[in-house]
Amino acid sequence: MGNKRPVYVSGSILSGDFAALGSSVRRLDEAGADMIHIDVMDGVFVDNITIGIPVVAALRKETEKTFDVHLMTVGPDRYVSRFRDAGADIITIHFESGCDVSKTVDLIAASGAKPSLSVRPGTPVEELFPYLDRLYMALIMTVEPGFGGQAFIPETLEKVRLLREEADRRGLDLKIEVDGGINDTTAQPAVDAGADVIVSGSWLFGGDTARRVATIKGAAL
Ligand code: DX5
Ligand code: ZN
Repeated sequence: MGNKRPVYVSGSILSGDFAALGSSVRRLDEAGADMIHIDVMDGVFVDNITIGIPVVAALRKETEKTFDVHLMTVGPDRYVSRFRDAGADIITIHFESGCDVSKTVDLIAASGAKPSLSVRPGTPVEELFPYLDRLYMALIMTVEPGFGGQAFIPETLEKVRLLREEADRRGLDLKIEVDGGINDTTAQPAVDAGADVIVSGSWLFGGDTARRVATIKGAAL
């Protein structure tokens, strides 16, 4: 198929050192990651609680790389402007979050951040279609959101394929992100399916981060 789209790596600090998150951000930055993926979990939308607005603001001083903020929260509309002020460049909300998706996408754009919308593995990809024209990115979860270190769900790649097809059909310059279980064996199939922003956490932190970032980027070639 010859994939000509550049592949971007978004390193997830969820698998970093929570006692020294600044150094985890610098590790991803120095390893060549294009973006820093920040997983915000509220203990309601998912069964885990991670980090919030003040931590994003503090980490903003550590790098100039794009902050790719993934909101796994209910009612994300309430916090869009504050995450933006804290330094978020891309803000992803979940289709299943219970907010007015259309309004929240507009709110993200109005804040100056780039809007992105995600679906959990069990949600049909078609739910994203009404919003595609207004999105910078769409995130197909390749594991159930909530925890790092889970196994990639191969069936989710069909959603990536359908989404890329729909974006191409409409002539959209949509970024497609995949998140969960990405490593040296799953990155290439994800890119082949049409993903161009690849999140990785436990795999990037589990070895030579720079080599692993390069491996994922190599999946484009
Ligand atoms: C899971 C998070 C992911 C997580 C991925 O809910 O959204 O960003 O950090 O971690 P790995 O790469 O370990 O699956
Ligand atoms: Zn994430």
